Amino acid sequence: MNHSGMTSSEWLEVIEAMEEVAPYYDRVNQLITLGMAERWRAEVATQADEEDVVLEVGSGPGTFARHLRARRVYCLEPSGSLIRMSRDGLPDEPYELIRGVGERVPLASGSVDKVFCSFSFRDFRDRDAGASEMLRVLREGGELFIADVAKPPPSPMAKLLEMHVRHIVPVMARVAVHQSARKRLSKDPYRKFAETYDAFGFTSFYERLLRSKGFDDVSTKPLRLGGATLTRGKKPWKSTS
Ligand SMILES: C[S@@+](CC[C@H](N)C(=O)[O-])C[C@H]1O[C@@H](n2cnc3c(N)ncnc32)[C@H](O)[C@@H]1O
Repeated sequence: MNHSGMTSSEWLEVIEAMEEVAPYYDRVNQLITLGMAERWRAEVATQADEEDVVLEVGSGPGTFARHLRARRVYCLEPSGSLIRMSRDGLPDEPYELIRGVGERVPLASGSVDKVFCSFSFRDFRDRDAGASEMLRVLREGGELFIADVAKPPPSPMAKLLEMHVRHIVPVMARVAVHQSARKRLSKDPYRKFAETYDAFGFTSFYERLLRSKGFDDVSTKPLRLGGATLTRGKKPWKSTS
């Protein structure tokens, strides 16, 4: 794994790890973020307007999508079992569940107003290709939002967060899974999370990548209490001159 992506087999391991923890995903997230995960998702979802056509890339079991209020919500997710979970959890409208990857979005160019990656961009196999595709499907003036766990530059706060991810999260994740699953998930149910957190996640990297792809007005702000961040970028309007 490195800043811009991972090999196919590394990526498949990330997807498998996500499928394994899916039944406990919400509970684990709430515990490891000390109850903040749902607040962060709700805060990010306020960026969508009711009239928008929205794409969520890496929708998993539908945890973020259920917060969205929009005219149409496309949920793109590579895992068949996670798509099935979100089908059970989300109403028919305004959602459309699509199996696929962010590196190859099966939607027309310029067809969506907003794209959201809620804690999923770090899991892309090829973030470079993903950023280009998300720019392609956005209409001019449309916006991309990437929410991720905070990874500040070296500082005492960064050290604390790193210790949390490395040492506290694995214990909390084991506590949150059902007793019967503990043996099966004998190592650390969130082991891939620590790996992807180590390999990627600096918002300066996300910002540089978005600018290099042609996004405008790229910026990052902390979400509530600073444990997560929201990076955004806008598809430029075509110059008429
Ligand atoms: C940590 S989960 C986030 C789920 C949900 N968005 C949330 O807020 O909880 C990351 C999701 O991204 C998906 N994913 C991984 N690689 C992807 C890719 N290349 N394109 C689209 N989704 C991907 C995974 O299958 C997983 O469901």
